[in-house]
Amino acid sequence: MSRLDLNTFMQMKQRGEKIAVLTAYDVSFAGLFEQAGVEVLLVGDSLGMVIQGQASTRPVSLADMVYHGQAVARGSQQGYIVVDMPYNTYQTTTETVENARVLVGQAGAQMVKLEGGREQLEAINALVAASIPVCGHLGLLPQSVTTPDGYRVQGRDAASAERILEDAVLLEQAGIGMLVLECVPAGLAKRISQRLLIPVIGIGAGVDCDGQVLVCYDMLGISGGHKARFVHNFLAGQDSIEAAVRAYVKAVKDARYPAVEHTYQ
Ligand code: KIV
Repeated sequence: MSRLDLNTFMQMKQRGEKIAVLTAYDVSFAGLFEQAGVEVLLVGDSLGMVIQGQASTRPVSLADMVYHGQAVARGSQQGYIVVDMPYNTYQTTTETVENARVLVGQAGAQMVKLEGGREQLEAINALVAASIPVCGHLGLLPQSVTTPDGYRVQGRDAASAERILEDAVLLEQAGIGMLVLECVPAGLAKRISQRLLIPVIGIGAGVDCDGQVLVCYDMLGISGGHKARFVHNFLAGQDSIEAAVRAYVKAVKDARYPAVEHTYQ
């Protein structure tokens, strides 16, 4: 069975069909998620917090991403695998391409994701020139957060909203194939999703994105600590993890999640 590819997601966007994404870090969940209809498996550096118990995503290493990426690749057959480039692994164009090649060659990544806007254009250009598919990440950038109160909604005022929109356009022009938009007001996310041709995947970005992603442990209601407004426990009321994931996928597809109560205005 061959894996889904970017064309599939472009076509889904054109048809107005929502894309269901979850983070995955291991064999068992990767297999279960794709069985339940999740199309994109994001090996996120959120694993630093939800798997390793770190205070932020910053301590996550390239070797960690390879370890978890390999497990997800072994556990899935058709899910499209996106792997995060960890903090400090895309400083120069040379190291960006070298490290991304490790994720593609060893961790099973079909696409790598990196955080940031116009300041990442050189890195993105280098990856595109090396034929490595890239996912952008705008809005809240977890790798830039150093204190617990740094997890804040972005793009609330007109100037910062405009900057995020401009960054999204610049990244698309540079050749990214997908964009994650984290913690921005729903109106801004809608404008960006309508403006870009590539799929925009939201997390805390309202229902008008082309797809949704959640950290899988948040979706199952088993993450500790502060619960962000957009998090919803899909396991509540279900009798199995598979049923919870199916409920998440259906809610995303039907544009019932995120609802107003999960959304920043
Ligand atoms: O690392 C991660 O899980 C992510 C999501 C929050 C989008 O980047």
